[in-house]
Amino acid sequence: MSVTIVGSQFGDEGKGRIVDIFCDEADMVVRYQGGDNAGHTVVIEGEKYQLSLVPSGAIRGKIGVLGNGCVINPKTLFNEIDGLRKRGIDPEIYISQRAHVIFPFHKVADNLEEVAKKKMKLDAGTTGRGIGPTYEDKAGRRGIRIGDLLDKDLFWKKLEYLTQKRREMISEVTGPVVDEAFDLEAIYREYCAYGERIKKGNMAIVSGEFITEQIKLGAKVIFEGAQGTSLDIDHGIYPHVTSSNSSSGYAATGSGVSPKIIGQGEIIGIVKAYLSRVGTGPLPTELEGDFADDLRERGGEYGTVTGRPRRVGWLDVPMLRHAARVNGFTGIVINHIDVLAGMGDIKVADSYEFRGESIRVLPPTTELWGECQAEYRNFSGWPECDWSKVAESGYSSLPKEAQKYIDYIASEVDADVIAVGVGPSRSETVLKRRPFNW
Ligand code: GDP
Ligand code: IMO
Ligand code: MG
Repeated sequence: MSVTIVGSQFGDEGKGRIVDIFCDEADMVVRYQGGDNAGHTVVIEGEKYQLSLVPSGAIRGKIGVLGNGCVINPKTLFNEIDGLRKRGIDPEIYISQRAHVIFPFHKVADNLEEVAKKKMKLDAGTTGRGIGPTYEDKAGRRGIRIGDLLDKDLFWKKLEYLTQKRREMISEVTGPVVDEAFDLEAIYREYCAYGERIKKGNMAIVSGEFITEQIKLGAKVIFEGAQGTSLDIDHGIYPHVTSSNSSSGYAATGSGVSPKIIGQGEIIGIVKAYLSRVGTGPLPTELEGDFADDLRERGGEYGTVTGRPRRVGWLDVPMLRHAARVNGFTGIVINHIDVLAGMGDIKVADSYEFRGESIRVLPPTTELWGECQAEYRNFSGWPECDWSKVAESGYSSLPKEAQKYIDYIASEVDADVIAVGVGPSRSETVLKRRPFNW
């Protein structure tokens, strides 16, 4: 039995906290793509955890798996694990031997390419973690995988080629490279030590075999997506996207299980009640000025990974219809309903005006999307409430105006509302049903 959690907008919809809530009934949480570009926040009784690579279920002591579709910076991973240990949590983490490894030169390449593209407004505003170049090396069949770190001779051979290749690629742009990010021997020593730690901790697995076996034995598994559908490399706002597929189809490919496992389970889209966006690219419902500043402050809209202020906008329903089709949502969670409280009437882009016509879905290219003007529908706002009390009493105690807003979104994406977020912590969640007991 599986539950797949995916972001339906530009990431940061509150996926981590929903995984934390649902995983009380799960045995294992699997990340299937992305790397330490993700920042998933879990708040438990005022304690805040920000996770980049450790799957969010680890806080509850569930098994965490990093699937083959992930890109792993071992330094971040071990820092995160050690940081959790200092806080009394000892996560049980397994990593696919087929997951690709991020090296220091990937970060250099990421940042240089962003600078070069910026002049032409083609930059993505990346997190600078080396995600794109690592996936490039994967597709270029020269990448180095977690399994390679376990065989020192093989690792040396592959690293020698890759470091030289990356050095050549970069020196074409910058001239001779003297950066320590290209110091072959130093990298080799550092990453051999990571390999040793992985071996010693018996962390390396074949994720598809491991997860499938556990499911056969009756395990309940959550697949935790990172980023969001509008950041998906195929279905997002290309090129202002990440370099992996964050939508539900990749939960199978990126973890090595059959698509049947994903399709027979629930696929839950996490929706933020408005839009936030860390990177670049068009945003038809973008808000600016005092109202935007107010919304940003109320929602704490500053990047979890980079601290950058997030751009904000009204909810974009054509974007959600697109996400619902791409992912096949069986349910949605709408977070941040509390943030909009007391802010007056709410607007929603129900459709776009595009070259004289009204359209209800995303046009095929990013440039055409940039031409779209939002056609707004107005909703009455709702007042501030004692949200913990609302969460305790259930859906019918949400303000009627908020219910109208939520029901509208659910009907537009043709999926049930499973839960509503009315604050960042576990207890500030209105649960309509539990996904493992439907
Ligand atoms: P993720 O990347 O999708 O896991 O989301 P992030 O953790 O990056 O960003 C979501 C932010 O909103 C975090 O600071 C959460 O604690 C917070 N959050 C999540 N759900 C809610 C909600 O319903 N209301 C409020 N006020 N904050 C929320
Ligand atoms: P979570 O899992 C929000 C954005 C970056 C940039 C683009 C490419 O926390 O929702 P990358 O470093 O991946 O090459 O950057 O994607 N981005 C995110 N935005 N939340 C995330 O993850 C993101 N991961 C990447 O800002 O626009
Ligand atoms: Mg995040």
